[in-house]
Amino acid sequence: MLKSKIIGTGSFLPVHSMDNTFLSTIVETSDEWITERTGIRSRHIAAEETTVSMGTAAARNALEMAALSPDKIDFILAATFTPDYIMPNTACLIQAELGASNAFCFDINAACSGFLYALQTADAYIHSGMCKNVLVIGTEAISRAVDWTDRSTCILFGDGAGAAVLSASADDSGFIDFLSGSDGSRGSVLELKNRAIANPYHPAEADTLSYLKMNGQEVFKFAVRKIPEMVLTLTGRNGLTPKDINHYLLHQANVRIIQAAAKRLELPEARFPMNLSSCGNTSAASIPILLDECNRNGCLHRGDRLILSGFGGGLTWGSALLRW
Ligand code: UT7
Repeated sequence: MLKSKIIGTGSFLPVHSMDNTFLSTIVETSDEWITERTGIRSRHIAAEETTVSMGTAAARNALEMAALSPDKIDFILAATFTPDYIMPNTACLIQAELGASNAFCFDINAACSGFLYALQTADAYIHSGMCKNVLVIGTEAISRAVDWTDRSTCILFGDGAGAAVLSASADDSGFIDFLSGSDGSRGSVLELKNRAIANPYHPAEADTLSYLKMNGQEVFKFAVRKIPEMVLTLTGRNGLTPKDINHYLLHQANVRIIQAAAKRLELPEARFPMNLSSCGNTSAASIPILLDECNRNGCLHRGDRLILSGFGGGLTWGSALLRW
């Protein structure tokens, strides 16, 4: 049976880094409040960069590590909820930049779980034999979607992109199991609405631009419950315990969420690498950026077991168990 594995990772962060002190000149907040409640100290904000340019840069790094030329990629999947255009999709625009002319391309919008959903989709295409090499990208320019007068959201998010190349695995490394779920009935907890309806059969609605809105406490409670639940399910059904996992790469939303997950699972925090202090919450990009950092700084070793876990708008959640 064909199994997929990650053969290259890449990431990109915008040049501008905005710290909490700067934010406190824009909205009524403080470095102390943001650091204590979230663990975030600074985040990268796209100025010249776009969702496509960041995704392209991350993809180039991943392809270089995988030692694959773009024409060897047969599927490009971009996870994002902040595309530059509604159409063409982000993956097609990145394809054009890369010259990956043999690929078919589409986007996945599952907010902060997007990269996990995309990995699972890529794995399924490889597993079925339909694809050999898949480029999976998480890329977000959330700074365009936040209301910069709303201190409860604008302090949390950052921009950036991460990517991974998946190929059929010829050894015992690679993806072992996935888990994903959604609860659309709770969608209003975290939302970003689109343009107003205006057609001949519908009275024109006021065309106001919509910004990201979040019930932070509800998302917090959901995440703190969902992460340990996913970890226990994934490990349990594969004959493992949480202690058998070397590294937990969780969506980087809030240090307190990650600490709560570590506590519930009775694991040391050292197994939960983090970069949210300098990146903030980059939604679909957060896990691939962290994965690339861990990969490049040598903290992942051949044979290590990893769990990647995301949660967010939709509501959506997803996890992957893999052997490095
Ligand atoms: O990737 C998507 C997933 N999103 C998340 O995972 C976010 C999950 N939620 C969270 O991380 C936390 O709920 C937040 C960081 C968003 C908020 O932390 P909290 O401890 O839940 O604070 P809170 O919303 O209960 O607000 C506490 C107080 C409020 O003031 P009052 O009503 O107690 O007077 C807020 O108005 O803090 C106030 N507040 C702020 N104060 C200073 C809210 N934002 C700020 C701010 N600076 N930036």
